[in-house]
Amino acid sequence: GSTLREAAADQGRFAGVAVNDSMLSNSQYANLVAQEFSSVTAENVMKWESIQPSQGQFNWAGGDRLVNFAQQNNQKVYGHTLVWHSQMPDWLENGNFSAAQLRQITNDHISQVVGRYAGDIERWDVVNEAFNEDGTRRQSKWQQTIGDGYIAEAFQAAHAADPSAKLFINDYNIEGINAKSDGLYNLVQGLLQQGVPIHGVGFQTHLILGQVPGSFQQNLQRFADLGLEVVITEVDIRMQMPSDSAKLQQQASDYEAVTEACLAVSACSGITVWGLRDGDSWVPDVFDGYGAPLLFDDNYQKKPAYDSMLAALGGS
Ligand code: G3I
Repeated sequence: GSTLREAAADQGRFAGVAVNDSMLSNSQYANLVAQEFSSVTAENVMKWESIQPSQGQFNWAGGDRLVNFAQQNNQKVYGHTLVWHSQMPDWLENGNFSAAQLRQITNDHISQVVGRYAGDIERWDVVNEAFNEDGTRRQSKWQQTIGDGYIAEAFQAAHAADPSAKLFINDYNIEGINAKSDGLYNLVQGLLQQGVPIHGVGFQTHLILGQVPGSFQQNLQRFADLGLEVVITEVDIRMQMPSDSAKLQQQASDYEAVTEACLAVSACSGITVWGLRDGDSWVPDVFDGYGAPLLFDDNYQKKPAYDSMLAALGGS
């Protein structure tokens, strides 16, 4: 294959990208997304603050736009995300709810959103970023109000809304074997034992240049060995700016290592990069002095990381 999507397909995997809704009307952006990728994730428009900005009022415009785009271009849609402590609308973030009320609100959100896109969205990040770095549960509103059971309940609600969707838990800094991935491993093992409908784990993979964890493949494999699918859901590899050719080469070998870790695990069904061009990335807004984490530069030109990822997928 001469594109990421073709090369990935030859390996039985998908190649995905997070799409910025406001860029979809730019034909150069849209054409490249369509040409190179077989899966799209909404960077923001399916998050709670976007899709249910006031209680009971759903805004489907951005989500529908992405789903329609994907259908026109023969792409899968990866749903992101249903239960997350960040990008909550004010009414939810600041509301004082009992456990029963929050359960009702959450079940309603999940059944509306998953139900609307039933059959159109193959995979969903049902719960995002539920863990602290030490492997304990993050004290999100759900954890504080409902307690440990909120995760199983969210998966049950999503399964009821679309029994054919593959349901994922997604997190960052879980690529290697460490306290956080151990905590997640113990959770999903327990959920499976209880018969909770969970089908996969998403590894966000927001990495720093030169720091692909050596245990990445082994870690993916231990989750796969539980019978789960694994996906690299949000990869980007940031460097201290300015970039130079040595850094771009290191980044290329890092993307190659990430791709190889996925390909070495048969249950790793795909890799999504978190944005199209460097200038589209969230990284410089959050990590002062860092940037250039993606596969294309701001002129839509392929970076060395693109070539190495394509080659790692067996393409040329
Ligand atoms: O919507 C407002 C807009 O009205 C306003 O004019 C503008 C001014 O700054 O801000 C807009 O909101 C921004 C939003 O993206 C939509 O563009 C927020 O400020 C900004 O913080 C938000 O950032 C997103 C971030 O999640 C929020 O946590 C990034 O685009 C998005 O890439 C990032 O994605 C997350 C994944 O969902 C989960 N994993 C980590 C990943 C990176 O943080």
